Amino acid sequence: MYSLTVSKIIRGTVIDHIPAGRGIDVLKVLKITGREGYRIAVLMNVESKKLGKKDIVKIENRFLEPNEVNIISLIAPSATINIIEDYEIKKKYRVEVPSEIKGVLKCPNPTCITNQSREPITSYFKKISSKPLRLQCTYCGTIIEENEIPRYLGV
Ligand code: CTP
Ligand code: ZN
Repeated sequence: MYSLTVSKIIRGTVIDHIPAGRGIDVLKVLKITGREGYRIAVLMNVESKKLGKKDIVKIENRFLEPNEVNIISLIAPSATINIIEDYEIKKKYRVEVPSEIKGVLKCPNPTCITNQSREPITSYFKKISSKPLRLQCTYCGTIIEENEIPRYLGV
């Protein structure tokens, strides 16, 4: 099978099994612009046995905080995180959508208390379904479907 080859990295993070088309969004939610100076590779629409097509993001000398992994899980629930040291995979794990998500998603309901500029209330969603992923605002009950998540994450 033909595959587009990109070098292995010496040290850093490989985010693999990202749904095709979401690689750039992964960089966005990590607030990585490319101007930080890390060496970065983004592979898009490469073959995957599991997903048909997938994206891969490789970032040298950058490791992820648990809250960053949680945000990635919202747009790439199938992603695996590989932590690389000395060319080798030191740790590999699947992302997992947390049961509660505080402060990262904007509620779609404009009249929700979390959208009132005078009320400093942090948004708070609960996971009510995993497949498909479905989140519910604990304040107004509005539901965000999996495919709507990028929009309410601001990517
Ligand atoms: N990788 C890398 N640099 C390294 C080691 C691995 O960039 N030093 C990348 C590989 O190119 C691959 C990903 O990390 O995109 C996972 O590597 P590996 O576990 O070897 O591949 P698979 O077995 O295909 O992974 P999986 O079982 O998770 O599908
Ligand atoms: Zn709400």
